[in-house]
Amino acid sequence: MQRTAAIFDGLLRYDAAPMNVLGLETSCDETGVAVFHLERGLVGQALHSQIDLHKVYGGVVPEIAARDHIRRLLPLIKNVLEDAGVGRPDAVAYTAGPGLVGALMVGSGLANGLGLAWGCPVIPIHHMEGHLLAPMLEDDPPAYPFLALLVSGGHTMLVAVDGLGLYDVLGSTLDDAVGEAFDKTAKLLGLGYPGGPALATLAENGNGDAFVFPRPMLKNPGLDFSFSGLKTAVMLQVKKSTTGGDIDNVRADIAASFQSAAVDTLVSRTIQATDKTKLKRIVVAGGVGANLRLREELAKRFDGRVYYPRLEYCTDNGAMIAVAGALRLSDGAEPATILAKARWSLESLVPPRAPEQRKAH
Ligand code: KG4
Ligand code: ZN
Repeated sequence: MQRTAAIFDGLLRYDAAPMNVLGLETSCDETGVAVFHLERGLVGQALHSQIDLHKVYGGVVPEIAARDHIRRLLPLIKNVLEDAGVGRPDAVAYTAGPGLVGALMVGSGLANGLGLAWGCPVIPIHHMEGHLLAPMLEDDPPAYPFLALLVSGGHTMLVAVDGLGLYDVLGSTLDDAVGEAFDKTAKLLGLGYPGGPALATLAENGNGDAFVFPRPMLKNPGLDFSFSGLKTAVMLQVKKSTTGGDIDNVRADIAASFQSAAVDTLVSRTIQATDKTKLKRIVVAGGVGANLRLREELAKRFDGRVYYPRLEYCTDNGAMIAVAGALRLSDGAEPATILAKARWSLESLVPPRAPEQRKAH
């Protein structure tokens, strides 16, 4: 084991900041590949969504996800490198967790194999760090410090971000993630998988005040979230309307009322967090960040600036992993041993070492 680590260490040590960083995302049901160039920005990317494979099951099947990543990853990498005119990247970054462990192992194994073959550094990236750094792909990125609202299918978190690797989790969900609540509500309303975007579309035709669903936790101290009570309230209403025979008439109203309760909860907690931290910038990232009502409501209620990645980088993608890898490497990150962690605390991350410290080590 030690010997392997020593071989890796010798092979992967590098001195110059790498220019082209290949990023691989395989934590769930999207295979994302991208190349980020430290000066030119994003030079290539591709995404393969597995939605068609999983929708017949109504949710992601981990084994099917892992198998499809194996099928897709190498051809996607080849295409992205060819299109970007990059023969051999200078570094590889990959999602090492949190996520489905079988799916993560595909990205981790391949990234480390490619790093060995290319003799370049390989950097494990925390999936949520990728999400919170996604706005760095834009022309006008946020400066530190900022508050990050991370809202995806697996996470709901408020994080005070002081710099790269300096993350203080102020609040997170005690049960369901908000994206999961969107997906489950969509399922109850007979919408397909993934439900979030379908539910948001249906909600546009409904009245958000038709039903008063709970805004859980808002009166509790602290900044945690809980979405299971909201989900249960929606389930009871769906049952009642189905039994009463008018479900078809109220489906859009239920969707809109659920969406306004979920959005109100997220926005109220976020404002409480900015009041507490006095942070003047908010980054919203993760799949639910694509929700237009959430964007509108935050703009109305927050007087600082809100940064979003463009819509395609809100949901899982390779570009956010490539940019996170590039930022970590240019700040002196060391290559690490192979990682695939189903659970991984964001707060356990540390900033990369400064380049001058790296030489002395
Ligand atoms: O970040 P992401 O792509 O994957 C995870 O890391 O989970 O987020 C996916 C989640 C799903 O729950 C999906 O339903 C939700 O984001 N989502 C939305 C919207 N677009 C995607 N939820 C609400 N409104 C949307 N427009
Ligand atoms: Zn994600």
